[in-house]
Amino acid sequence: MNKHTVLVTGGAGFIGSHACVELLQAGYGVVVVDNLVNSKAEALSRVERITGKTLPFYQADIRDKPALTEIFAKESIATVMHFAGLKAVGESCEQPLNYYHNNVYGTLVLLEAMRDANVKQMVFSSSATVYQPSATGEYSEDFPLGAINPYGRSKVIIEDILRDVSAVDKIKQNGAPWKIALLRYFNPIGAHECGMIGEDPNGIPNNLMPYVLQVAIGKLRQLSVFGNDYPTPDGTGIRDYIHVVDLVKGHIKAIEAIESDKFKAGGCHAYNLGTGKGYSVLDIVNTFEKVTGRKVNYQFAPRRTGDLAESFANPERAARELDWVAEKNLDDMITDAWNWQVKNPQGYVD
Ligand code: NAD
Ligand code: UD1
Repeated sequence: MNKHTVLVTGGAGFIGSHACVELLQAGYGVVVVDNLVNSKAEALSRVERITGKTLPFYQADIRDKPALTEIFAKESIATVMHFAGLKAVGESCEQPLNYYHNNVYGTLVLLEAMRDANVKQMVFSSSATVYQPSATGEYSEDFPLGAINPYGRSKVIIEDILRDVSAVDKIKQNGAPWKIALLRYFNPIGAHECGMIGEDPNGIPNNLMPYVLQVAIGKLRQLSVFGNDYPTPDGTGIRDYIHVVDLVKGHIKAIEAIESDKFKAGGCHAYNLGTGKGYSVLDIVNTFEKVTGRKVNYQFAPRRTGDLAESFANPERAARELDWVAEKNLDDMITDAWNWQVKNPQGYVD
């Protein structure tokens, strides 16, 4: 028998599609809403093939209240996993209004539709970018918030909205309190180990791993390593890379926690999803070459504006309260990312 049904916004995207697989395999019903602004419906067909289950899909924008109202009326949704959003930092600096409209207003419309349908459980895709830069590079959930670009600020604003919504007195909330998990992702990479779903960036990738993949497969000439004068052991930037399958397993744990006594009183709880380990850009290049046997041509280039020297999670709260730890190592992340790239050199072709 199905566990309850989860509405996955942005379910055709990189992380959302992996979440759909994990949810279906864990026995949840899944319904997807996505406007395909940064994804293809083919990803959802692949999810169906991997799991052998059908996946109801509504091609709609989360800012379309009537469309959402119809979905909540038709499907019996208990929880929303909210991935839908725009996520490119550089683009957010060029198009701040578009980012705030899509991410912040979109979430407001979704919350109104949820409230009207009396669905009050949400797992939200937040980001490590919500934190103020830290001198040590390590972030715990109680570290001060303060993003430095419109994308990051859209996440901080949404977190604030979710904290306000969930703080309303339980009695005033039609009996049940809001139960919300804010999951702050560090750097998700990798792909499902079958190689049928993965990250399919539009145009030239902004992020390190998809760029490395495209250099290794010959689509791009060489990687620019942004900065080799950071105060890190090899001078290049350090990040906490996490396998996307580990990441989405954290989402299943968050739903389990929401439905357990831990969330009985309701409220909004933040969790870092990271491994707690940092790797430099050169660690990534060297490990990539070791694991795949492919050469990654690179040159050093100036630092990228807005980049930090080092960023890694303190993941202890998720271990303690969600019973979740990342299990896959960097070799697994790179092996699975490469498997996806080799099997799908053009990404998804609809
Ligand atoms: P993605 O772009 O692959 O997926 C987002 C999905 O949302 C896409 O399928 C897109 O078409 C859809 N979407 C966007 N706006 C929409 C709208 N208004 N209505 C309906 N659908 C809409 O990105 P992803 O990497 O899977 O990220 C998922 C979430 O996780 C995003 O909210 C992102 O900000 C957050 N996040 C991602 C990372 C990362 O490194 N990938 C890190 C931290 C947080
Ligand atoms: C970026 C976003 C962050 C978002 C995260 C999602 C910026 C400034 N930050 O984080 O908001 O949550 O993606 O994963 O865009 N690098 C290179 N060459 C490249 C690309 C990257 O050297 O071509 C370096 C970067 O300088 C950094 C590391 O690789 O040190 C990782 O970069 P990236 O994958 O873009 O992630 P973040 O910058 O951590």
